[in-house]
Amino acid sequence: MSNKNLKTVDLVPKAADFLGDVVKGLSAAPKSLSPKYCYDEVGSGFFDEICRAPEYYLTRVETAILDQLGTVNLPSNQPIAVVELGGATSDKFRRLMPHIANVKMYMPVDISRDVLFGDAAKLAADHPNLEVAAVCADYQQLAKFPWQEHLKGKTPLLFFPGSTIGNLSEEDTTALMRICKAIIGDSGFMLLGCDLMKPVDVIVPAYSDAGGANARFNLNVLRRINLELGGDFKSENFRHDVQFNHEKKQIDIHLVSKVAQDVHLAGHTFHFKEGEGIYAESSRKFDRADIEKLTAAHGLKPVTWWTDPKEYYALVLLKAAP
Ligand SMILES: C[S@@+](CC[C@H](N)C(=O)[O-])C[C@H]1O[C@@H](n2cnc3c(N)ncnc32)[C@H](O)[C@@H]1O
Repeated sequence: MSNKNLKTVDLVPKAADFLGDVVKGLSAAPKSLSPKYCYDEVGSGFFDEICRAPEYYLTRVETAILDQLGTVNLPSNQPIAVVELGGATSDKFRRLMPHIANVKMYMPVDISRDVLFGDAAKLAADHPNLEVAAVCADYQQLAKFPWQEHLKGKTPLLFFPGSTIGNLSEEDTTALMRICKAIIGDSGFMLLGCDLMKPVDVIVPAYSDAGGANARFNLNVLRRINLELGGDFKSENFRHDVQFNHEKKQIDIHLVSKVAQDVHLAGHTFHFKEGEGIYAESSRKFDRADIEKLTAAHGLKPVTWWTDPKEYYALVLLKAAP
């Protein structure tokens, strides 16, 4: 890395964690596989395709809101450091930056190493006066990260777009929100993107686009297991399945076995019945009251809301509650 204004920190989990998690997930009932393993370079490319799919309104609406934010008032006498969770690509940060005065530093955090470091290098080259510090890590590793050391003399703005908060389990949400609160402390800010509840016939196609980007993304975990862990999954024997769970106001995504079959991995045999699902991911949809409740539970309060005309999506600026 030759840019003077670029630092990279690599805390990426080892392959052993990948194998251990996959064996644990496939041994459970019901079976599951963490979506974080969909994100290698190929998977991040499929995620980009999802973002460009006409049915995937989330990116389109959130970027339109970002483009029209106007000045974001962050009272502080220090320069601002934007920490982005899930910031493998800086597209949303590049849109946010013009609306904030005195941004000195950008710290994207993401598990997808090659995409993250490649994109951070381009951003650093495009903005020689911006300090870029890219952190390759699993969210689970962030509690022990020396944030104060990196953010010294700066006011943090924690940017968590993409409604990724809605993909986390209750337990993971609590753990991550605690980390977010610790990063921003009493004087920092958080900008959170949340997908709002809307008619289900708008939501479901976003996760089951006609062009098949969502399916390719979801199936990528099987390709990675075969390639990196020596498994023998036959992707063509699984289909991408999307259901809306009305009770929980969330999309539930599975990979469903089309046939009865055995899959082998690292000395284990996993049997699948015809129609059996592997749980992949959920995506919760929020009302304002849900967001207020979630953030209040972690000592944060909304300062400013931005939405689109149809109220499909919200960006919420938060700070520590007094
Ligand atoms: C749903 S995408 C959102 C991407 C982008 N921020 C957006 O707003 O569209 C989630 C991003 O988080 C990263 N990611 C997924 N699981 C992660 C984890 N456990 N730890 C760190 N990064 C993760 C992925 O590589 C991906 O870039």
